Amino acid sequence: MGKDDPIKRFEPNIDRIKRDILALSRITSPTEPGYTRLSFTDEDRKAREYIAHLMEDEARLTVRIDPVGNLIGRREGEKQKPALLLGSHLDTVRGGGRFDGVSGVIGAIEVARRFEEKGIENIHPIEVVDFIAEEPSPFGLSTIGSRGMAGKLPPKLIGSLRDDAGRTLEKAIREIGGDPANIDKAKRSSRDVLAYLELHIEQGPHLCSKSIPIGVVTGIVGISRGKVEVIGKNDHSGTTSMDVRKDALAGGSEAVLVLEWVCAELAGVVGTVGRVEVFPNSSNVIPGRMILDMEIRSLSEDLLHKAASSFREELERIKEKRGVQILFEIGISSKPVVFDMNMVKRIIRVCEQLGILHVKLPSGAGHDANHLAEVAPTGMIFIPSRDGRSHCPEEWTEFEQVCLGTEVLACTLAGIEKDAALSSGHFDF
Ligand code: HGY
Ligand code: MN
Ligand code: MN
Repeated sequence: MGKDDPIKRFEPNIDRIKRDILALSRITSPTEPGYTRLSFTDEDRKAREYIAHLMEDEARLTVRIDPVGNLIGRREGEKQKPALLLGSHLDTVRGGGRFDGVSGVIGAIEVARRFEEKGIENIHPIEVVDFIAEEPSPFGLSTIGSRGMAGKLPPKLIGSLRDDAGRTLEKAIREIGGDPANIDKAKRSSRDVLAYLELHIEQGPHLCSKSIPIGVVTGIVGISRGKVEVIGKNDHSGTTSMDVRKDALAGGSEAVLVLEWVCAELAGVVGTVGRVEVFPNSSNVIPGRMILDMEIRSLSEDLLHKAASSFREELERIKEKRGVQILFEIGISSKPVVFDMNMVKRIIRVCEQLGILHVKLPSGAGHDANHLAEVAPTGMIFIPSRDGRSHCPEEWTEFEQVCLGTEVLACTLAGIEKDAALSSGHFDF
């Protein structure tokens, strides 16, 4: 196919896409709200079994689990050629939705099925990946699988992080079929990965509000995640006068409002406290301790640092005013990522050739692509989220939109393969 020939469409099968997304939406926790499938749980294991079956039996991929626990289905190409990776994640947040991550995994499997059905002789191997634990996991770390693929999961770290039951991340990785003793072997590089592509829902309002079916992602925000611990004094709620209290919950609540204020003042930054623990959490005891999980996000690293230092200053003020102790530390975070411009242009070209309305936009959500961008040229394709809602049971994307996103994913992948084949003197595929 010459450079100017009309683009070959892959015609993804919408019924299969719908079948698989709805099947996965039934593999969720029976006790938690919404669609909950936390990483390293029974539901996560069952969902991985389901897609392993799709990979093997429908897409004819060879399935393996890499040392960090990622589930990978591979379609061979020519020996020694770097692979084309595509995928996303199956785990959800607590009370999440049906399309975050899942659209990208099923879209990637559908691309592989269409390569198989069309009998396409790909030169570069194709690998479909379900990254383990993209969401904040019970071990206090997110994007575990993609961090591992980027070589950012030192053995010491996986041996030290524990869940509430005291299980180490190392043990959890072993339980899902990973090989933590060889975690460094999960690391990929541009020697064996030619490019990475991820189809994902926008999780925001832009595409839906403007009725634009495809977003071409230019970059991803950096995320600074941390904990604030407020230590006051447990006391009787009836006999302790207001002027002598050291109320950790009141101090912590002021910290929540101050984070909101600091971030609202700085354009281009968002900040959230999404999880709190209060001790002893009894209605007639003045809380003596409170822990807040916080995060700050921005496309600018400077702004991330600025927001964190302003927040720290405000916490000092609360500490002095209330006579409580306040400990604040930023934990393992991710830097903002700007995607490879050639990849952005390539996805735009595909949309133009397919005659699809599209727009460039950054991602306010974090993704596995954050880390894969350190491994190889990376691109993301967004599809609309109804009313911009995500991380909630109302999360919804029309199956036609998932299908269209899968078409763009497939054509972009095929274009990379074709250009790489042409440049290496191969016949066009
Ligand atoms: O938190 C995020 O931004 C992503 O949805 N995991
Ligand atoms: Mn998410
Ligand atoms: Mn996601």
